Amino acid sequence: MSEGAAAVEDRVTPEQVRGDPEVSGLIRWADQYLEVIGYTDHGFDHVDRVARRAFDILRQLDYSLREAELAAIAGYLHDIGNIVHREGHPMASALMAWGILERLKMPLEEAAIVGGAIGNHDESNGDPTSAPTAALIISDKSDILRSRVRNPKMINFDIHDRVNYAARAAELKVDKPRRLITLQLVIDTSISTVMEYFEIFLSRMGITRRAATFLNCDFKLVINDVELT
Ligand SMILES: [Fe+2]
Ligand SMILES: [Fe+2]
Repeated sequence: MSEGAAAVEDRVTPEQVRGDPEVSGLIRWADQYLEVIGYTDHGFDHVDRVARRAFDILRQLDYSLREAELAAIAGYLHDIGNIVHREGHPMASALMAWGILERLKMPLEEAAIVGGAIGNHDESNGDPTSAPTAALIISDKSDILRSRVRNPKMINFDIHDRVNYAARAAELKVDKPRRLITLQLVIDTSISTVMEYFEIFLSRMGITRRAATFLNCDFKLVINDVELT
């Protein structure tokens, strides 16, 4: 971070962003919209995990505290644009976040990093353009959990629900000395096959690998103790 960054005492913190009434309202409403159209949970549980994990990835790789905080802030704001539409939500989220960060008086240089991270978090058209962006991508794409499925009755019909529901455990490990980031999944193959995981994960893993490369790391996906990459 350079001169344009906020002084430690008046910087915008991840806690401040999460606790902001406008932000919490937007997270809630965006998640309600996704519930209506049948998507997995994108509410506070999801954004809390994504923010925390993005922060941890950068700290474990010795990036500055402020870069880790900006990644966490991006984590809280990355899905608010789902209020506008699922399609293109990274752009909507970034533009909506811009106004909020301006109101909170975040310096332009930092808001640019947060906005860029949010706008690039999706596998459809994202690119790791900064360390916070890369951490947000890895963190978001690795949030696969049974508890994100809202209606287990739907698992017979929807591959995303099935893939999340089958995940008994998902652990992200950062090995700094080996510059290796590993996503270790334990899946119940009676619910979803490894092939289904491939189907869903191929595009997600592409952007995750590029994000890991941006952080000078390799990326490895392990499903049920089998290394797939
Ligand atoms: Fe998203
Ligand atoms: Fe997300």
